[in-house]
Amino acid sequence: MKIIAVNGSPRKGGNTDLLLDEVLGIIKRNQIETETIFLRDHQLQSCDACGYCREHPGKCHIKDDFPLIFEKSLAAEGIILGTPVYFGSATPPIKAFMDRVGYVARHMESSFERKIGAAVVVARRAGHNFTLAQLYFFFTIFGMVIASSPHYWTLAFGNQKGQVTSDEEGIITMRKLAENIVWLAKKLHS
Ligand SMILES: Cc1cc2nc3c(=O)[nH]c(=O)nc-3n(C[C@H](O)[C@H](O)[C@H](O)COP(=O)(O)O)c2cc1C
Repeated sequence: MKIIAVNGSPRKGGNTDLLLDEVLGIIKRNQIETETIFLRDHQLQSCDACGYCREHPGKCHIKDDFPLIFEKSLAAEGIILGTPVYFGSATPPIKAFMDRVGYVARHMESSFERKIGAAVVVARRAGHNFTLAQLYFFFTIFGMVIASSPHYWTLAFGNQKGQVTSDEEGIITMRKLAENIVWLAKKLHS
């Protein structure tokens, strides 16, 4: 069983990295394999709406790191999308992930149904809710099962690198999210 995190922050060592580390650390301690895809380390252009994936299931014509990212997403039992808020919404790399991976997956027989989906969002001040909803729309078009936190919506506050660690409630929320992902993963996939 494997849970992957897709990190849409362009900033290495920033708040999204810290929050996802917190979540993945707990999942790992529960003997579930994890991996983070740092989108900033990959080439992933935006979808150009060519329609190639409709004729060639599972394939995209754009020559970049899509095949690797798609393969890891398909193979995982759970996908955590993590992003900072940029102008009230998810970052361009996360949007490219959702459009490319999502559109190709939509044109395949069985793809993401009943995988676990979870979202982690951080911002300085505003835009968390809209961004969470953006990520949840990705999960819910596939019939994925959303893991949430019993503490609060899965968001945190922080601006400068590392500042999110001062958001005590945000960190507790992430820990509880991780525990729920573990619980759900064992129910659904063991
Ligand atoms: C281009 C850009 C747009 C941003 N837009 C928002 C915003 O709409 N709302 C907000 O509260 N913070 C906004 N921020 C602040 C980031 O969400 C915040 O610094 C966050 O902690 C960055 O996460 P990271 O450390 O993982 O990169 C923006 C930052 C950048 C660089």
